[in-house]
Amino acid sequence: MSATLFGFEDSMAATRRLGVLLKVPALAAETRRFPDEECLVRVPVPARTAIFYRSLNNPDHKIIELLLAASAARDQGAQRVILIAPYLAYMRQDMAFHSGEAVSQKVVAGLIADHFDGLITVDPHLHRIKTLNEVVPGIPAISVSAAPLLATLIDARDNPIVIGPDSESRQWTEAIAAPLGLETLVATKQRLGDRQVSLTIAGADGVKGRRAILVDDMISSGRTLVEAARLLYGAGAISVEALVTHCLASADDLALLEANGIRPVVSSDSIDGPTSKVQLAPLICRALQDNGLA
Ligand code: R5P
Repeated sequence: MSATLFGFEDSMAATRRLGVLLKVPALAAETRRFPDEECLVRVPVPARTAIFYRSLNNPDHKIIELLLAASAARDQGAQRVILIAPYLAYMRQDMAFHSGEAVSQKVVAGLIADHFDGLITVDPHLHRIKTLNEVVPGIPAISVSAAPLLATLIDARDNPIVIGPDSESRQWTEAIAAPLGLETLVATKQRLGDRQVSLTIAGADGVKGRRAILVDDMISSGRTLVEAARLLYGAGAISVEALVTHCLASADDLALLEANGIRPVVSSDSIDGPTSKVQLAPLICRALQDNGLA
């Protein structure tokens, strides 16, 4: 028994790509739903090191399935069970913003720490808490950034300007712009509701007559980028593109981005979809090997 990668229906393509690089088998963990929505999970073969690969968009079902999969792997003799969750959900609720709210980040990270022996993720949304290990206690918790890969997609010859739509995006904006010697602007955002934000961009007149490239860790409803694009076009940008690590947007939300002149929208393959042009497999393969997890 050696390391084996297990994907799920929604993550098999990326799991296989990683398996090729790691030179380990990539198999599908089997899941089925009962009429009452309970799930049954089966890990098809024993493995000394079982590595599960799944992004946690639509997280609630997936988290339970992963906990069951980890247990099934251990019951078959796994000595190490690793989770690769390129997109790690529930990281944004890192405090109780209103009295009585659960701190989801702490709860979900605690579940992962209790059931897995290692975690690899990509550009997690850590805001008030600086390192992933502070969030996920007691196991190696490794966070890698897709920024260098995303930066390779930028054609910098016409001197575009790189825009972060809120203060948290500064880290990704700078990581992408600095190696290319590009100028950055970072907006100030106020969230008014799930699908409503208000932005101000100090120095926005600097975009006049230039390509603007919006950079963020994720697109969820897309409203942050739509509002940013409205301001950038208003300030004279000739085009607005978007480059993000995780694209969780629905087809309708992607259509809204397009209708607001944001094109192209490019993301990593953390979540498979029409925008996922950048493969994370080399990055994740290196993280596993450098940290002795595979
Ligand atoms: C939060 O601050 C994140 O970095 C994103 O800016 C945010 O989640 C995007 O959300 P939406 O697409 O719903 O505006």
